[in-house]
Amino acid sequence: MSTSKFLEGGFLPVLFAFSEEKASISKEEILEVAKQFKLDFEEVRQVVDEVLEIPIRKTPQKIIKVCTNIHCNIAGSEKLVDFLCQKLKVKLGEISQKTDTALVSAKCFGYCDIGPNIEINGKMFDSVTTQSLVKILKENEKI
Ligand code: FES
Repeated sequence: MSTSKFLEGGFLPVLFAFSEEKASISKEEILEVAKQFKLDFEEVRQVVDEVLEIPIRKTPQKIIKVCTNIHCNIAGSEKLVDFLCQKLKVKLGEISQKTDTALVSAKCFGYCDIGPNIEINGKMFDSVTTQSLVKILKENEKI
């Protein structure tokens, strides 16, 4: 695949969106992107794997999103990220293989005045502190 085809294609933002959303992309999703952009599956898979280095795997069982946008950041989301990184033994944007949990950053959930906000598999939690996060994780182990 030529470099210009990459840049003109507009599919890189789509691949990045998967990475940002769940720190990974599945083969089925790559296939769908290839189909939508009329590209060869193997070429797209190579870009994902070798250029973007996005893990190709099934969707993680649990996806924890922490809003790191300005309001939540000021309210303390950085501490939540640090706590979760330590607990899961991952960096932001990675997947814990042990717990099959992705930890990703969210841009903004739209509830800025009640942050810091997190989302676990689509379930939203507001005004989260490291103390309340311990309880949230325990109570939502099975989500
Ligand atoms: S800044 Fe976090 S929800 Fe808007």
